[in-house]
Amino acid sequence: MSVIHVLSQEVANRIAAGEVVERPASVLKELVENALDAGARHLEVELEGGGVKLLRVTDDGCGMSADDLRLCILPHATSKISDVDDLFRVASFGFRGEALPSIAAVSDVSITTRPRDGGEALELRVRAGKAEGPMPASGAVGTSVCVRGLFSELPARLRFLKQERTELAQCVEVLTRLLLTESGISARMTHEGRTVLEVRAASDRRQRIAALLGDDIAARLLEVHAGGQGLSLEAWIGPCDLVRRTAEQQHVFLNGRCIRDRSVSFAIKDAWRGLIMPKEHPVALLFIAMDPAQVDVNVHPQKSEVRFRNRDALVGMIRASLRQRLLGEPGPRRLHFPAAVQESMAFAAAPSHDIVRERVSLPPPVALRRTGHRCSSLAYMPDAGASNLPGVSGSGPLRFLQVHRAWIVVESNEGLSIVDQHALHERWLYEELLQRFERAECESQALLVPEQVRRTPAEAALLLEHAELLARFGLVIEAFGTTTLLVRAVPAALRKANPTELLDEALQVLADGEGTAGSSTFVAALAADMACHAAVRFGDRLPDAEVAELLRWWQQNPLLRNCPHGRPVAATISLQELELQFLRKK
Ligand SMILES: Nc1ncnc2c1ncn2[C@@H]1O[C@H](COP(=O)(O)OP(=O)(O)O)[C@@H](O)[C@H]1O
Ligand SMILES: [Mg+2]
Repeated sequence: MSVIHVLSQEVANRIAAGEVVERPASVLKELVENALDAGARHLEVELEGGGVKLLRVTDDGCGMSADDLRLCILPHATSKISDVDDLFRVASFGFRGEALPSIAAVSDVSITTRPRDGGEALELRVRAGKAEGPMPASGAVGTSVCVRGLFSELPARLRFLKQERTELAQCVEVLTRLLLTESGISARMTHEGRTVLEVRAASDRRQRIAALLGDDIAARLLEVHAGGQGLSLEAWIGPCDLVRRTAEQQHVFLNGRCIRDRSVSFAIKDAWRGLIMPKEHPVALLFIAMDPAQVDVNVHPQKSEVRFRNRDALVGMIRASLRQRLLGEPGPRRLHFPAAVQESMAFAAAPSHDIVRERVSLPPPVALRRTGHRCSSLAYMPDAGASNLPGVSGSGPLRFLQVHRAWIVVESNEGLSIVDQHALHERWLYEELLQRFERAECESQALLVPEQVRRTPAEAALLLEHAELLARFGLVIEAFGTTTLLVRAVPAALRKANPTELLDEALQVLADGEGTAGSSTFVAALAADMACHAAVRFGDRLPDAEVAELLRWWQQNPLLRNCPHGRPVAATISLQELELQFLRKK
């Protein structure tokens, strides 16, 4: 007697359902996608009990004939593809023929439909896995799918669901995402009879974004278009001061399908690298269009994971086009004074012990150093030309003052700027390190006694895999058994740093970007950490000549407004703002 037997259809459907239907929001996604595939222009979504008790999607799409209605709840029954080749040119949301049977396996379903090309309205019911009908019904052209008692037969699944409020929020999010790509569709969603989301057909993308994400965000988004190599990208991105604490305002669509892709997320992160803080997340909506043959969507039942044939081209285009747009945006972050601090401002204006330095002549090349540690010998190249930085006076003498051994106040045409000495120096070193890396000129300092560092086999392997790259930075490592590494040399600029910590930083950077964005990301992240180690600190008193040198560098690189970790290098207060503060102007 055999121990193997073929599972019944009922069990097979439940198994499939486990992958497709996780929660009400996944049911909603499948039903709305079906409606959009059916050419709907308007959607009505009704929910009760967070979508668990009842979830109904009604569309005005093409509807179904009696035969199709009978077939649509069978596993692998679909009107969207027919042969294997079609899998490589999927242009619809659906193609697996899994959603309706899966949903019907874990709830009670009723489908009412009336075909656009003639015929009466019909209803099909599936209760406890048994189909009844089709039977005559009443209804307009289109389809209405009603799902009741989701997971009522599966207490384990029910327990896994969150509070009603959370499930509802997830439903709103799913519908929002689907509506973002389809600007021309109107929709309404109600929960227990109360409208929770309503949009009219929009004439353009910004209007649709405004309706879904808010006018304030939509008004600030920058539009980016890029194309080439069979790809086109339309992106709507927030400027550097429009950030979020999570990545929830990042949406990536591929040929209209909302996808999650690590390499694309990484390209987004990379585009903002150094322009925002590491814990901040930019707002970004990416609409990518490419030949369906260039991407495999048949990776996961939920169809949000895809595989690109040419991932590098896509990632490169995203990173480059977004970054270019971001760097083109004017002005450093402004300092604003809330009314409450106006009073304390008066104290801040009291005379300080330092003297305003006037007419500091340009110094000969000097090395910026960190206390007792010569971190870099960067040649200073004076540029007699006028500055292209609106913030700081042109070629004239610099007037500045170092305050609290941390900040440099500098007079500018516009008013005054307050520079963060560490952030600015860090940025400079970072640019220098990157350039040296490109030219393969990073020096390393051998350790007298190689340091042994023990890590997990996976971590050690990851580091060794990138040993050559690390060596180009001056960090020389080699294997010493499967879990121990030897650090033989460290970057000269970082000879005071702890080799173990340095290795861990490299590991962190590697693990974060594991194989996703290529080595340039790693190089940039590592250079950023190294620059931070080597830069002057708060508390370091700087000779005027070095301050002047720093400021001149800043003048020559006006676009680099943040340290590589994203902190602004300077804040500017305009004369106009000062005049307002002192009530000289209304
Ligand atoms: N709202 C709808 N309007 C018209 N036809 C629909 C609708 N929903 C489902 N169908 C039909 O039922 C079939 C099965 O749907 P589904 O199980 O979601 O699989 P898939 O979308 O992958 O084809 C679809 O291919 C389509 O022909
Ligand atoms: Mg479908």
